[in-house]
Amino acid sequence: MSVALSETKAVPVASPDRPSIVDAGPAARSPFVRLAELLSDIAPAKPALSLAVGEPQHAMPDFVGAVLAANLPGFGRYPAGKGLPSFRKAAADWMARRYALPRPLDPEREVLVLNGSREGLFAAAILARRLASPAKQKAPLVLLPNPFYAAYGAGAEAAGCESVPLPLPASGSWLPDLEALTPALLEATVAIYLASPANPQGTIAPRDYLARLVALARAHQVMVFSDECYSEIWLGDEPPTGILEVAGPDYANVVAFNSLSKRSSLPGLRCGLCAGDATFMEAFAEFRNVAAPQVPEPVQHVGIAALADEAHVIASRDLYKAKFDLADRLLAGRFGYSRPDGGFFLWLDVSAVGGGEAAAVRLWQREGIRTVPGGYLCRSDAAGRNPGVNYLRVALVHDLATTEDALTRLVAGLS
Ligand SMILES: Cc1ncc(COP(=O)(O)O)c(C=O)c1O
Repeated sequence: MSVALSETKAVPVASPDRPSIVDAGPAARSPFVRLAELLSDIAPAKPALSLAVGEPQHAMPDFVGAVLAANLPGFGRYPAGKGLPSFRKAAADWMARRYALPRPLDPEREVLVLNGSREGLFAAAILARRLASPAKQKAPLVLLPNPFYAAYGAGAEAAGCESVPLPLPASGSWLPDLEALTPALLEATVAIYLASPANPQGTIAPRDYLARLVALARAHQVMVFSDECYSEIWLGDEPPTGILEVAGPDYANVVAFNSLSKRSSLPGLRCGLCAGDATFMEAFAEFRNVAAPQVPEPVQHVGIAALADEAHVIASRDLYKAKFDLADRLLAGRFGYSRPDGGFFLWLDVSAVGGGEAAAVRLWQREGIRTVPGGYLCRSDAAGRNPGVNYLRVALVHDLATTEDALTRLVAGLS
């Protein structure tokens, strides 16, 4: 089956009097724009199949159309920035069912609707800087995992903060090294982003890791923004711990972000949520009232219905598990493959074929398979080392048959 590509083509080149965002620093550049540039002159030899974008193609819940239809009059109203009280209650109730929270969230003060988690993750850095102490204003830092979701870096840039990728530990783990969080670094930091399960490497942060991160951040008045949008796509026996579970009863300094994009295979719905620190959330709500995209009421009603239903989430998770069973079979012993803890990406070591860019070009040219060079998802460290340069990200977002075809072509293309 051939799937239409959804990456944008490269934007027009800058002229001397109109600098292009393409020439801006890495924080402002989309990996997909870079990918479009890389592959723009290459014609694939076979029908195109994109495994580049993390856009779930699983069946969406069957009630979406009916709920939208029942709530059409809501399109005739500007939605309130904070979201419908009923959406915020549904989100708080879902979090209470899903996580062992120290206490229930207050939907009025501690929960907001988002137009997908991306815009919330982006805007949160701006608020973190605004709320930081005068001592942190001079040269504020935002710390990123590496690899990282591009919106974190863009948010840091918009906030006027320097974004600093955290190093990975020598152990080979793909979780940022907490040993790097020295008091001096934290004293200059306004926010730390973390994704668990992580995109792309699928690593799930253990409970004690999250607890230590929160303790370190709190001791230096740093906000922790925990990106949990892959929280329902886990492959082991236990669901991932959420950061609010270890944040104590006041949730101070911590905000969790989630979304229906991955959980409910509704990336185009644009419905997400964030929850946590009431002081932050109050200021965030006020800022968002003038600056953030609202979420249409009918969309929030779909969100309420989706959050109340687990059957479609379990079916979708089972399909991801079946696809990783396939990967276990087809990729065993190749490209450093190991089954991830969660998420829906393969993170393959393609150093044997010249690294991520060379592998992406080769796969596109020979097999029509579109993937993302790992280096596009990472930042180089101070020594110029990019931890993703030898890796390739492959999104397992299609049905089982398409995935089998794709993985067979991938093995052929890289061999
Ligand atoms: C790590 C991560 N965070 C956040 C998002 C944003 O998703 P959404 O805005 O659809 O909730 C994505 C989307 O691919 C992602 O991979």
